[in-house]
Amino acid sequence: MKHFASLLFVGVVSLSTLNHAFAGEEAKAGVPAKPDLAKGQASFTACAACHGADGNSAITTNPKLAHQHPEYLVKQLQEFKSGKRANAVMSGMAATLSEDDMRNVAAWLTTQAPKNGFAKDKELVALGERIYKGGIADRQIAACAGCHSPTGAGIPSQYPRLSGQHQDYTTAQLTAFRGGVRNNSTQMTMIAAKLNDKEIQAVSDYIAGLH
Ligand code: HEC
Ligand code: HEC
Repeated sequence: MKHFASLLFVGVVSLSTLNHAFAGEEAKAGVPAKPDLAKGQASFTACAACHGADGNSAITTNPKLAHQHPEYLVKQLQEFKSGKRANAVMSGMAATLSEDDMRNVAAWLTTQAPKNGFAKDKELVALGERIYKGGIADRQIAACAGCHSPTGAGIPSQYPRLSGQHQDYTTAQLTAFRGGVRNNSTQMTMIAAKLNDKEIQAVSDYIAGLH
């Protein structure tokens, strides 16, 4: 993961250098300026009761957001706002955010250290680990690790971070993808469609302890 982390770091540094260099032209061209971490942190005060002061929610049905990739966070906030991802509470919250607010809060959350979780059920977790690392070949279920990475760190901008996420939240999302309630990712709908309840529970428990 050092490798991913340093790649990300280099990306962030070069992006911010570019932003500095071209700040004047960007303003003219209407290209968004560099995210403002202080503003992002200030916006997050409205979110902290549910998602934890540092983005590590203590409530297991609310997702941990700390250290999540900013592109993924912005996509979710945009889709809550537009209704593409349906959730009454979050649609209301996202409606109060402008595009800049979303970018700022996402950039701030990315800087927050993640808190690990733990798996609970020894027997289930072994099944979960098999699915996560190897998929289920005879039912054409792809390994989660292929997209979300072996440690669950995800791949910045493409695939979200899953490691340490609450089991209750992950179970709810996989069930929502499967049932069409969460309808903002064809890839995940196709994968979740093939998992039964026990497999969803198992892989979610494994993810909670993954880091
Ligand atoms: C009243 C509680 C509550 C508040 C306040 C709240 N959230 Fe949420 N948030 C939730 C719940 C519950 C979910 C899971 C929604 C679902 O099931 O789809 C969620 C989901 C999210 C997600 C999706 C995460 C993922 O991994 O896909 C993001 C991003 C998010 N919230 C950001 C915010 C931000 C930013 C704010 C403040 C502006 C905020 N939330 C305020 C309860 C809340
Ligand atoms: C082909 C790539 C791919 C594979 C394989 C894959 N995923 Fe995903 N997954 C995605 C993408 C893309 C998203 C982001 C969806 C979005 O933008 O809302 C995602 C999102 C998720 C989420 C929602 C995260 C959140 O914070 O709400 C969960 C949970 C998840 N995947 C679990 C799994 C599990 C478990 C497996 C293995 C059974 C798996 N994924 C396999 C691509 C993949």
